[in-house]
Amino acid sequence: MPDKASKRVIVFDTTLRDGEQSPGASLNLTEKLEVARALELLGVDVIEAGFPITSPDDFEAVRAIAREVTKPAVCGLARCVPKDIDRAAEAVAAAKRPRVHVFLATSRIHRQFKLRKARREILRLAVDGVSRAKAAVPDVQFSPEDAARTEPEFLAQVVEAVIDAGAATVNIPDTVGWSTPERFRALIEYLFDRVANIAKAVIAVHCHDDLGMAVANTLAAVQAGARQVEVTVNGIGERAGNAALEEIVMALRTRPDAFAGCSTNIRTNLLYATSRLVSRVTGLAVARNKAVVGENAFAHESGIHADGVLKKRTTYEIMDPRSVGLARSKLVLGKHSGRHQFRRRLGELGFRLSPRQVDGLFGAFKELADRKKEVFDEDLVALVESEVPRAPETWRLCRLTVATATGGMAAATVELQNLKTREHRRDAATGDGPVDAIFHALERMTGVRLVLEDYQIRAVTSGTEAQGEARLQARHGGLSVTGRGVSTDILEASAKAYLSVINRVVARV
Ligand code: KIV
Ligand code: ZN
Repeated sequence: MPDKASKRVIVFDTTLRDGEQSPGASLNLTEKLEVARALELLGVDVIEAGFPITSPDDFEAVRAIAREVTKPAVCGLARCVPKDIDRAAEAVAAAKRPRVHVFLATSRIHRQFKLRKARREILRLAVDGVSRAKAAVPDVQFSPEDAARTEPEFLAQVVEAVIDAGAATVNIPDTVGWSTPERFRALIEYLFDRVANIAKAVIAVHCHDDLGMAVANTLAAVQAGARQVEVTVNGIGERAGNAALEEIVMALRTRPDAFAGCSTNIRTNLLYATSRLVSRVTGLAVARNKAVVGENAFAHESGIHADGVLKKRTTYEIMDPRSVGLARSKLVLGKHSGRHQFRRRLGELGFRLSPRQVDGLFGAFKELADRKKEVFDEDLVALVESEVPRAPETWRLCRLTVATATGGMAAATVELQNLKTREHRRDAATGDGPVDAIFHALERMTGVRLVLEDYQIRAVTSGTEAQGEARLQARHGGLSVTGRGVSTDILEASAKAYLSVINRVVARV
């Protein structure tokens, strides 16, 4: 068990639980399994696979992940309520290393307004919850929710009591992203000072990013002795998200001097591919300037910087792009490239695809290479992400014709194929603009009505022949779904993105 003196930091990944709580990010079982396998390959120590009591789907997903992965511990979340704890324990039972994570709010504001319980009652519930979980699984973690705003002496009392009750890990969450690095470090130091039995547990931290300090607060806690970091890939999560796995891991690796040589077991060369996978399945774009895995993270615009990097990389680059899985070469393939070259490059970019998937993608690659002379890594990533469907495909776009005039209405004629019945449909619709007309036609033809919540277009690479990527988020009843589409034609990209949402709605995922 890594204690304060140990240099080993446990990586507890909650992409599939807190990360999935990002609005619009819900994943189906296949996608969750794909992410779980990628996390195992990445080398995380614990996968928090879900919150089993919340729905039968969540329960099934946690159970399937528990059966599938063998190296990391698989954890299910539970409130401090018997039925939650029993359900979480049942979901993780098949795991090689099952863990139940019980949480209960401890701060004054949560006690008073949310739980309406006195300190004494909170203490009792926490101990009862941990004891119940401990009777079901050997590995129990406890989180005093909103710990960062809890009175420190009461927090210390709770931590001591749950360790006595059998919690092997106690997680200190900054649930609302309120703390600052100095304050959070001081809180962890305080607990190490005041909790008599603290050496019997691993102290973890779980920071939210409401003020943009999740990573800094997590790292400050590591300096104070925390040895488990709770993180998500790309920093996705409730509201502004959680501490980003890739940033914490690379900070520890790049600055051992600042963090007493603490390190993780993460295979950092898989960070980029894992980030792309999570972005693809959640539909949540990674900001271009995002640290470590953003497109611009290793791009040098200024001539002085580019010149410096050519002379000696470390003049302006503190990390080697290859250490996070980014290859240096940019221009890779063209219309004369063969299937073998194509497959090898996809492998180098971190995609694990079946021969059938590669064959399917190769046709799309050839079409792209015909439309666009130079195919860059970013084009390949976009191709895989848009062509490997997130849901069983019901509708496929066959043809699109759009007529539009400045200041007037636009008309779109769309031909679709229903892949289940093989039926072809053709219809036309008008709209305020070309995108509006396309979306109207698609809704009428498929019978799926959506409320568009967000719609963005960006170029995948630079230059006028670059592919355009459309990302959108739409609501269907109570369900918020994301979709994306890529094409050298931005109207076609938009149609594909809308259709990918429709396919998800039809498949109910
Ligand atoms: O943010 C939080 O407090 C949580 C707990 C369940 C650990 O996500
Ligand atoms: Zn959280």
